[in-house]
Amino acid sequence: MKVSKRIFNLETETAFSILANANKLSKEGRDIVNLGIGQPDFKTPQNIQEAAIKAIRDGYHGYTPSNGIIELREAISEMIFMDYDAKTSPENILITPGGKPVIFFSTLIFGGEGNEIIYPDPGFPIYKSMINYSGAKAVPLVLSEQDDFQINIDKLESLITDKTSLIIINKPNNPTGSFIPKEKIQKLVTMLEKFPHTYILSDEIYSKIIFENKRMPSLLEYESIKERLIVLEGWSKTFCMTGWRLGWSVWPNNIYEFANKMCVNDHSCPSSISQYAGLEAIKGPKDEVDKIVKEFERRKNFVFKNLNNLKNIKCFKPGGAFYAFPNISKSGLGGKEFSDIALNEKGVALVPGTSFGYSGNDFVRISYANSMENLEKGIYRISTI
Ligand SMILES: Cc1ncc(COP(=O)(O)O)c(C=O)c1O
Repeated sequence: MKVSKRIFNLETETAFSILANANKLSKEGRDIVNLGIGQPDFKTPQNIQEAAIKAIRDGYHGYTPSNGIIELREAISEMIFMDYDAKTSPENILITPGGKPVIFFSTLIFGGEGNEIIYPDPGFPIYKSMINYSGAKAVPLVLSEQDDFQINIDKLESLITDKTSLIIINKPNNPTGSFIPKEKIQKLVTMLEKFPHTYILSDEIYSKIIFENKRMPSLLEYESIKERLIVLEGWSKTFCMTGWRLGWSVWPNNIYEFANKMCVNDHSCPSSISQYAGLEAIKGPKDEVDKIVKEFERRKNFVFKNLNNLKNIKCFKPGGAFYAFPNISKSGLGGKEFSDIALNEKGVALVPGTSFGYSGNDFVRISYANSMENLEKGIYRISTI
């Protein structure tokens, strides 16, 4: 068998295998509380569902342009202007099947032997997997508990070399839920201005799930880095549309066509039906989304308070997304052993911190995309580990 050597560099997302394992145990009759999965537990709002059904009935079920329908790209451009007071042409917006292809495309475009790509650790596991697949050197930027899991700007600066082709940033962060305040984002941008040869991929997929009425700017607001900025966004988390496979991204002029060619070569175009649903999500009423974010905040408060009441757990306060990333080192176990005991003995699915990078050994990720009742049950069950 003569397969490409690089294929062995691809890794996977442990959260999916944990989900499969948890489902298998449930099918065998075990009572499993799943706090492992990273998707909202709410239904896609009704008006969005109706728009998809209408699209099918009206005959909008064929191929679309590879970069997405113009109405949708225009709607996103308007939304960016309203939300961030930033001008973005629909010609720089790309619609893809979920946000994930943006990681795939940007690492392939900026990767390859001789290049270095910096990524957050702990971070979404696909970053490292794809950097390694591309042939580039994967350079972890450790986000530490002492820094509230925020980017340490000096540390980041020390990692940038003349080989750094891309820096990946994720805010709010998966798996820690960390939030970066505006002043710090400004400092980050000022530092990045010193390195005009590096591009930036800002993964902002959780941008609308932010707590305590705080506001976190998009990197799109900073003109000085706009010509080398890719922003990954999408519908999956904000509109509870993970299975619809729909994401949007903004690309600089000189890279856009590369990414668009990747779309043609990879998937032709995103689902037409999902795009019409996505258009309704952007243009239609947002009260459902507001309710969902409030509910996530209520759960965040519950999880944060109750985890910190446990003797073996210390948990940092998440500022966004729907994850808590407690330190479990007082239990005397590593995150992997803790998660194994949680699943096999206590019936609670969690994701070990090491699934998100080398630095996650003392941690587990708890997703609070589950009902209050299940969160209460799950936390009670792990209290004895
Ligand atoms: C940080 C981060 N980026 C990107 C994605 C991909 O999102 P999508 O489901 O839209 O492909 C996820 C999904 O979990 C994520 O957590």
